[in-house]
Amino acid sequence: MSITPNHARANGIEVKDLCFNWRHGAAVLQSCSLNVPKGEFWMLLGTNGSGKSTLLRLLAGLLPAQSGEIKTSPHLGFVFQNPDHQLVMPTVGADVAFGLVEERLSPNQVRVRVEEALTAVNLLNLQRRPIYALSGGQKQRIAIAGAIARQCEVLLLDEPTALLDPDTQLDLVAQVRRLVKSRGLTALWVTHRLDELDFCDGAFLLEQGRVVDQGEPTRLKQRLMQDQD
Ligand SMILES: Nc1ncnc2c1ncn2[C@@H]1O[C@H](COP(=O)(O)OP(=O)(O)O)[C@@H](O)[C@H]1O
Ligand SMILES: [Mg+2]
Repeated sequence: MSITPNHARANGIEVKDLCFNWRHGAAVLQSCSLNVPKGEFWMLLGTNGSGKSTLLRLLAGLLPAQSGEIKTSPHLGFVFQNPDHQLVMPTVGADVAFGLVEERLSPNQVRVRVEEALTAVNLLNLQRRPIYALSGGQKQRIAIAGAIARQCEVLLLDEPTALLDPDTQLDLVAQVRRLVKSRGLTALWVTHRLDELDFCDGAFLLEQGRVVDQGEPTRLKQRLMQDQD
C-alpha cells in the first residue's frame, strides 16, 4: 500500500493529533492520538459513528488526513467486516495468490508463500476449495492468510467477527493473537464484543473522534460493562 504525505515508516502504529472531516461534514477525528507498539495486539472500541472505521482507513492510506501524523509499516493488511467484499478469486489458493501478482515472484515462490500463509491459519487442506463453500470464519482466515502471504507487518481488522457466531468469533481472535505473537506482527482490531478483550494486550476507547481512555483490557472491559448496565 502506498504511503500518503502524512505517513512515515515505523514498525508499530503511531498516530499523533490526527484530524479528519468529510467534505461539508462535522469533524470525525479530532486530534486523535494513539500508539500500538510493535508485536502487540490492541483493540479499538467505541460507539457507532465514533470514527473507528475512518481511523483504520486513514492508517491504511485509503483516505487522506487533513492534519496530523501517522507512522506505521508500509506492509499493511486490512481485514473487513464482510469477507465477501474482499475475497475475489474462485478458490482459496487462487485468492491468497492473487495478492502477490504485483510482486514478480516465480510460480514456485508464489506456491511456497501461499502454502506457508494457509498453514499459518490452519487451512492448508482447503487450498483447492471454492470460496463459496467456506464458512464465515474460514473466509476471514483466508483474508488474514492473504495479508500473511504478502508479508504484512501490521494488520488492521475492522469488526472481523461481527458476522460470526460466538464460538467462531473466539477462535478467530485467539488465532490472530497467536499469529501476532509468533510472527512479531502488530494488530489493531475493532470490536463491539467485550469478551474479545480477554485476548488483547491493550485497548483504546474512541468517543467522537478522540481517544478518551486506553490501557489494560480488563479495566476497560469493566468500565464498558458498567456503562452497558
Ligand atoms: N463516506 C462518508 N461520507 C460522509 N460521512 C461519512 C462517510 N463514512 C462515514 N461517515 C461518517 O463519519 C462518522 C464516523 O464513521 P465511522 O468511522 O464509520 O464510525 P465507526 O466505524 O466508529 O462506526 C459517522 O458520523 C459517519 O456517518
Ligand atoms: Mg465502523
